Amino acid sequence: MTPHADVSVVANGHAPAVQEPFAMSTGFNAESLEDSSLPHLENRSHLRYTPENELHDVICVGFGPASLAIAVALHDALDGTDPSLEIPELQERAPKAAFLERQHKFAWHSGMLLPGAKMQITFMKDMATLRNPRSEFTFINYLFQKGRLVEFTNLNTFLPQRVEYEDYMRWCAGWFDEVVQYNQEVVKITPEKSVSGSGQITSFLVQSRNVQTGEIQSRRTRHVVIAAGGRAHIPKPFPTNHPRVLHSSQFCHTYSKILRDASYPYKVAVVGNGQSAAEIFDFLHTNYPNARTRLLIKGGALRPSDDSPFVNEIFNPSRVDSTFWRAPELRAATLKEDKGTNYGVVRINLLEHIYETLYTQRIRYGNTPQAEENWPHRILPYRKVVDVTNSPVIKDGIRLHVRDQSPLYLSDVPNATEQEEVIDVDAVFVATGYQRDFHETLLRDARHLMPGGDLRDAKWQVRRDYKVLFEDKKVSDDAGVWLQGCCESSHGVSFARSMVWVFVHQFADMPL
Ligand SMILES: Cc1cc2nc3c(=O)[nH]c(=O)nc-3n(C[C@H](O)[C@H](O)[C@H](O)COP(=O)(O)OP(=O)(O)OC[C@H]3O[C@@H](n4cnc5c(N)ncnc54)[C@H](O)[C@@H]3O)c2cc1C
Ligand SMILES: NC(=O)c1ccc[n+]([C@@H]2O[C@H](COP(=O)([O-])OP(=O)(O)OC[C@H]3O[C@@H](n4cnc5c(N)ncnc54)[C@H](OP(=O)(O)O)[C@@H]3O)[C@@H](O)[C@H]2O)c1
Repeated sequence: MTPHADVSVVANGHAPAVQEPFAMSTGFNAESLEDSSLPHLENRSHLRYTPENELHDVICVGFGPASLAIAVALHDALDGTDPSLEIPELQERAPKAAFLERQHKFAWHSGMLLPGAKMQITFMKDMATLRNPRSEFTFINYLFQKGRLVEFTNLNTFLPQRVEYEDYMRWCAGWFDEVVQYNQEVVKITPEKSVSGSGQITSFLVQSRNVQTGEIQSRRTRHVVIAAGGRAHIPKPFPTNHPRVLHSSQFCHTYSKILRDASYPYKVAVVGNGQSAAEIFDFLHTNYPNARTRLLIKGGALRPSDDSPFVNEIFNPSRVDSTFWRAPELRAATLKEDKGTNYGVVRINLLEHIYETLYTQRIRYGNTPQAEENWPHRILPYRKVVDVTNSPVIKDGIRLHVRDQSPLYLSDVPNATEQEEVIDVDAVFVATGYQRDFHETLLRDARHLMPGGDLRDAKWQVRRDYKVLFEDKKVSDDAGVWLQGCCESSHGVSFARSMVWVFVHQFADMPL
């Protein structure tokens, strides 16, 4: 039995309505937090609210899967039921933890939550299973609690729909409503001037902006975890703030506002050759039957992601050590070699489905190169967008100026040269991936503590345990900043695909 199991369970066995006050995005009422004043609580973690003005042990920036896994691991450690998390410092007292999340509720890449989209990795790499299969936070326990375990088994899959996995993570997140502040966008992390004789930094000030009211809040903490995920990467020459040039991460939030009429013959371009681009291209085929879509890709073909078993071993947590200690040039070379497990690639079943869709056009619209020019849906290989202007032919539309190198590769006559092409469209979806460097912005006021920080291009470095390296002796050993989800160049791709359960190894190293 877990310590919280003695808390009375409501009669119908469902999560009680008392969770709702916790879910309110702002102004969580700390006064009502006395255990005795709370009605029967199910699904309440062992972490307790810490008033904003108290010194925290740890503040996590962002509450995505990375921070959620930390929350779950803290709970499991306090629970005392996970032998891999026997951390005496923790078991003596629950850490004063807070999670600051800018979204108004837990959501997992909701802009790409397309109907039917599947997970890319086995559900077993969830918040707990590979660390402690007996944890309450396993995906299997979630299914059991929701009454779907038997039917899920009948699906005969390790790859649930993304919508179900998001619901699983939201269920986990609900346990921590007391310690998560939603609508809080962290804007700055500043080392605090030390009052101790040693002159070492012992705490950090975390400033966040309430995205609804604009109010700035400040919290002090000894440890900070930055787990803010990726930012949309919109490469030049695409405008970053155009109502009809949108990054894939915004797709579900925006497409129906631009492409209002599902039967209209819109012209739409999608740029990129990863999973996001392929999913959006496929979605448009299915949901806009009269549209003309063009998928512009850099190379000659969409390529499948490699999730074959030998290659998949690169995601084993034990590989983080060997990746970290590898010579930098070898590490860079192997990261490049392993890129096809994750980036710029598409799951084979979706590839095959898209191929079939395009093939069907051969039957319906003709099989000649001339007929192909007019197919509603086409993949345009070897294309690079070099300029983006307003379209002179489509109202509010966009003109893409494209360098077409396909003749160099695909022409059946000698001496073919590249061509310029213009494509006029109603909207462009730029599925060009993510940048994971937001910590550089958040830590800009700490650069005086960065070794070599006076060099303009210097970047923060991390230790094996993901702790940011500050100049020697400038920061006390029991304070610091950790990075999660943005250490691929030093720690490898393991994190990116293995969800987050590897964190616990690092987490166990973090003195609270
Ligand atoms: C569409 C899509 C599908 C994916 N599918 C899979 C998959 O099936 N399997 C897999 O292993 N990986 C998948 N990934 C990879 C993905 O990186 C991980 O699933 C996971 O989301 C990483 O978790 P994270 O917490 O590091 O980042 P995120 O999930 O990005 O979470 C970061 C959180 O921080 C918040 N945040 C950001 N900045 C701030 C700030 N300044 N202040 C406060 N909060 C902030 C964000 O709102 C967000 O909630 C997918 C990625 C995408 C884009
Ligand atoms: N169902 C799901 O679970 C799901 C759905 C979507 C995404 N995901 C995951 O999310 C992560 C990100 O996927 P993603 O597809 O969004 O991004 P991605 O894999 O990083 O792919 C981005 C693509 O854009 C290309 N690109 C970059 N700059 C470009 C430019 N200027 N012009 C043309 N193309 C350019 C990249 O080319 P290069 O390869 O040359 O860099 C790459 O092919 C992956 O881990 C993926 O598996 C999962």
